[in-house]
Parts: sequence; structure tokens; C-alpha cells
Amino acid sequence: MSFSPNWQVLSLSLLLVGGTALAEAPPKTTPAANHVARQRPGHAAIASANFHATEAGLEVLAKGGNAFDAAVAVAATLSVVEPESSGIGGGFMAVLHRAKDNHDVFIDARETAPAAVDSKDYVNADGSPNRDTALKGPLSAGIPGEPAGLVLIARRYGRLSLQQSLAPAIRIARDGFKVDARLHGAIAGEQKDLQRWPASAAKYLQDGKPPAEDSLWRDPDQARTLESIAAHGNDGFYRGETADKLVAAVKAAGGNWTLADLASYKAMERTPISVDYRGYRIVTAPPPSSGGVAIAEILNILSGFDLSKMGQVQRVHFIVEAMRRAFRDHNDYLGDPDFVKMPLDMLLSPFYADGLRQGILPDKATPSSMLPRAEAHEPGMHTTHFSIIDADGNMAAVTSTVNYTMGSTFVAAGTGVLLNDEMDDFALVPNKPNVYGLLGSVANAPAAGKRMLSSMSPSIVIGADRTAVIGSPGGSTIITQVLEGILHFIDGESAQQIAAHKRFHHQYMPDEVMVEDGTFDPATSAALTKMGYTLKQHESWGFMNVVTWDRKTNKLDAASDPRRPSGLGKVQ
Ligand code: GLY
Repeated sequence: MSFSPNWQVLSLSLLLVGGTALAEAPPKTTPAANHVARQRPGHAAIASANFHATEAGLEVLAKGGNAFDAAVAVAATLSVVEPESSGIGGGFMAVLHRAKDNHDVFIDARETAPAAVDSKDYVNADGSPNRDTALKGPLSAGIPGEPAGLVLIARRYGRLSLQQSLAPAIRIARDGFKVDARLHGAIAGEQKDLQRWPASAAKYLQDGKPPAEDSLWRDPDQARTLESIAAHGNDGFYRGETADKLVAAVKAAGGNWTLADLASYKAMERTPISVDYRGYRIVTAPPPSSGGVAIAEILNILSGFDLSKMGQVQRVHFIVEAMRRAFRDHNDYLGDPDFVKMPLDMLLSPFYADGLRQGILPDKATPSSMLPRAEAHEPGMHTTHFSIIDADGNMAAVTSTVNYTMGSTFVAAGTGVLLNDEMDDFALVPNKPNVYGLLGSVANAPAAGKRMLSSMSPSIVIGADRTAVIGSPGGSTIITQVLEGILHFIDGESAQQIAAHKRFHHQYMPDEVMVEDGTFDPATSAALTKMGYTLKQHESWGFMNVVTWDRKTNKLDAASDPRRPSGLGKVQ
């Protein structure tokens, strides 16, 4: 793709600053550690959002599996024990690092639109957006990608058979597990919608009520579907009996899936985005995620400032201004790379970042309304992320989702599969917001077989001596959480400190800084307000799971976000 700067954006940036060069000269950086030196940790670490899932991954490692087998085990177990966030009815995105040949790859197991997708299904008779079909029931569901993604990882990167890696999830689904507060709360919150679909009510409600906390809960239908995948790979889900049941259930409830949609689904291997920042290489998610492009753009802008020499107010100011500009771009240009041409050369170019940096005023917020158009997301608390490093130094950063809490709330009868509501991640109705406040562009318009844009940002940060595997759920806040985690890691923080760190977020629109309680002291808040920022206090968000490797001491560390008690980071 040729370099084609957006002159409208560049010229406005220059206008805003009146031609003054504001950035300090970038400090000298050592060349980014190209790749991890050949060294093995000799032990392993996993951090995930649920202790059953972390233990399942460790079990598979103990059987001789590698990080990729463990990733299959963790993802499948999360499908059983944390269905509110992710599952085999949804999709995932992963960055994998294979130690033996320093191979980095992005696994795109994102859902696709069915061939019969029709934008009219998401509009009411009066022309207003139909939020119900976008978010609930079978029309809201894309063709699932997770099963194909797990099969791809197991077959191409794993050491064990699919049966061995899926065994813990199948056992837990069959024998049962204790319902935790999170699952209970998610089912209670979605109870009304679950009641609309008989198979959903049968699976998630007992006598019309959510299962009690600590009660034993079994998922025999999902156990059978996982067994079918274990035995037959893709054919165990996308063809044959499971596919027949999925399509029959979707059609009976007014959806439009066909057997051909399922049979033609393919998980993809793509080249990840790599960006160098202060001697570290960040390997992260390319489109159809917007996350990696935004993170790279922000880091490119920030590379012209020396954040380490700044006080908190100045540091936050520059980070927020970089976030604002990256979010302005991200919804305008990005979509499924197999369908849309994107100006990635421009968005990832240091020259483009230079132009944007020049537009940042030294002591004042830039109102988003002063920047040329763009559109934005809103945060969410669903989705899940896990991070793994194995004894050989293989790494897996995996973010998985069914989109909003409990996805479409639609279970396909006889399969135990809770379908996603990922269709809402398309720009279903031009210039009308989705559940995250997203106003998408034509680049993200729905089309047969197309993947909807995501914010998922699984990332690996590789330095000369230290490496981190990092990610989080949280809708559009995923991007800023991962960005802040990367900055904290580069500042030398431990896995525990990174996961616990207070957060702030700006996404261009609404033009306000979302601030977790306790992030700024009163003086910092006052100074930022004086600079023109609107600060909005917010309850905590995210569920970061991070693993780090210090190659000097050969120490692994695993941390699960202390804000959420169900998670577990564990070193084996
Ligand atoms: N469904 C949320 C995301 O992929 O960003």
C-alpha cells in the first residue's frame, strides 16, 4: 500500500498549533529487541479470568503440552465456566509467539456475517435502529469463529491432540462446577432475555431463576459439542449434526444462517502489527481489530515525548491527546482487511504521528470538535483475556468474546452453544451508535462473510531483558488499558502492579476523560480541568491478565486483575 497522507488531518493539525514545534527531541532509544534471545524460562505461567481455566491450562502443560495447547484448554474452559464473556458460540483474537523460530502470528477467529445478512433487519419501520435485533436473538449472532480458531491453534502450533487439550473443559462441563458470583450476576442481569428463548431458559434458569451462587452447575450439551470438536475438529462443529442443530435452531427463531455459512467459515493466520517504542517491540492485533493500529499510533505519537521526565499532569495530558487522535482515526478507516482497503501505511507511519504530535498544545486540551471528523466507542465489561508463557518461552495472548454480557442470550437447542451478538460490532445503521457508542463508517458496514471490527488487543511486549504478555476485556477501553499496561511495563512495573494500576481513558467522543476513582489526586484533577479536560469519575473497568518474564533473573510472574476476584494468575 502506498503512503498517502490524509492532508485534511495533517493540515488541520498544523493549523491548530500555528506551526510551533512542541515536541521535545525524542530521547535516544536502544534499537528494539528484535526478538527474545534463545533462552527458556524452564517453568510456566498463566493468568486468566477464572481459576478453573488457569488450572485447566496448567493441567495441559503438565501433560506435556505447550503454551498453545494450554491456550486451547483455557479458552474452552472459559466457554464453560465464564459463558457471560466468551465461548464456542463467539470468537477470539490471539497473538502467538513460537520460541523455537521466533515466529509471531496473529490468529483471527473473529465471527463473520452470514451470507443472507440484511441491514433492513436492524432498522425499525420508522427508520430508527432496531437495538433488539442487533443485540438479542439469532439475528444478532455472527458465524462463530472460536471452534475453528482452537482447531487451528491445536493443529498448527500445539503438541498434544485436540482431545487432550479439550479434556479439562469437557470434564468440567460434564461433571459440573460451582456457580460464582460473576456468573450468577450475569444470568440474573440477562434473565428477562434468557426467558425469551426456551433453550436459553432451560440452560441458564432453574424454575425460572438464576442458579444460586455455589450451587453445582452442569452443561452436558456443551460437553457433547466439545467432544464432537475434539473428535472431528472443524467438522465436529461446522458440518454434520452440530451444524444441523445450530442452523435449525437459528432459523426456527427467525435467524438467517445456512449450512453453507458454517461450512465456509475459516479462522485466519495474519501478520501481527509490530511497533518499536523505547527499545521494546510491541506485537499486537491487526485489523479486523482496531486495537493494534490505535496502540501503534498512540505509541508513535508518544515516542516524541519523554514521558519519564514529566510530572503526572503533563504525562496524562500527552497520553490523552494521543488517545484522542488515534480514536478519531480508528472508526473512520478500519474494517475487515479482506473487504476494505485501509490506509495502514499512513496510520502506522512515524511521519503521520509527527504531524499529529505537532497539533498537541503544550498546556491545553484540544477539543475533539476541533479535529476533523471521527467516531468512537464506549466501554464495556464483557469479553475475557488470558496470557500464557510456557517453559520453552512460547507465548499466547488471547482475547475472546461473545460481545455483550451473555452475547445474544440465545442458546441453540441441543448444542449448549450460547451464540454471540457480534453483529452489533458492525456499523449496522450508518451514523447510529452501537452498544459501545460506536458510530461506524462504510469500512465497517455489514456484508456477507465479512468480519466485524473489534477493539480486542492481545499483545506481547518484547524488550532486551523483559517480556510481557498482556490484554484485557472492556470494549473500547481495551485499547487504552493495554496501552497503559505497556507503558507501565516499560516503566519497570511488575505484573501485579500493571494489573492493579489505576486507569484513565479517552476515546475522542464523548470528549471527556473517563477516570477510575483514585487515579488522580485533587491537585492533578484541578490542573487537568484547568487545561480544558472534562474528567468523569467512573467505577473500575477491565479485567487485565498479564504474565511477565524477566530474562535476567529468569523469573516469571502472573497477575490477574485484583478488581475481579474470580481470576487467577499462577506460576508453575
Ligand atoms: N465485541 C467487542 C469487540 O470485539 O471489541
